Amino acid sequence: MSVNIIAAIDLNNGLGYKNDLLCKLPNDMKHFRSLTENSIVVMGRKTYDSIGKALPNRLNIILTRNKQYTAPIGAFVYQSLNEVIEKYHVQNNNDTELYIIGGSEIYHQALQFADQIYLTIIENKFPQADVYFPEFSLNEWKMISHKRYLADNNHQYNYNFLIYSRR
Ligand SMILES: NC(=O)c1ccc[n+]([C@@H]2O[C@H](COP(=O)([O-])OP(=O)(O)OC[C@H]3O[C@@H](n4cnc5c(N)ncnc54)[C@H](OP(=O)(O)O)[C@@H]3O)[C@@H](O)[C@H]2O)c1
Repeated sequence: MSVNIIAAIDLNNGLGYKNDLLCKLPNDMKHFRSLTENSIVVMGRKTYDSIGKALPNRLNIILTRNKQYTAPIGAFVYQSLNEVIEKYHVQNNNDTELYIIGGSEIYHQALQFADQIYLTIIENKFPQADVYFPEFSLNEWKMISHKRYLADNNHQYNYNFLIYSRR
């Protein structure tokens, strides 16, 4: 079982704007769903608010520092990323994958724990972006897969599915 990060970014590493995504990419949604279904998904409280509900067919974990926060239906709440990694990764010997699904604050903290990064790169620059994916070094990460798709009727921009593995 590995710790995976999954994110969709623009050409400036932008992730979102006003607690929403930068654009809709239906094929990226499908890609996200097929990778994360039947796995554990870990997200920050703001990303949870943005999604608005627990994701079906996944074990949902929300991170918040607010001790009064009540777990929404279908989700578990933790106050520490380290605790989540310890409980669901280190102590867990089964094959369930763990995906860190954002947002920016959580990606910055989770990069050190990750084995793989599933990155969608949208070939556009969204100047309004207000949250960013962390920089990561190719000295530490190796690209192991790259597939590029062209814009079509349902996708305004060209986009790329990449996988990086820790060296
Ligand atoms: N493009 C993508 O792939 C993608 C994916 C996900 C999200 N996003 C976008 O990213 C934006 C949200 O990202 P964000 O950085 O603003 O927020 P976030 O990372 O989703 O959530 C931040 C919140 O998580 C909690 N938190 C952070 N670190 C913690 C820790 N170590 N322990 C416990 N709780 C912790 C805090 O919640 P409390 O304030 O409750 O204490 C904090 O306010 C939105 O625009 C969203 O659409 C994009």
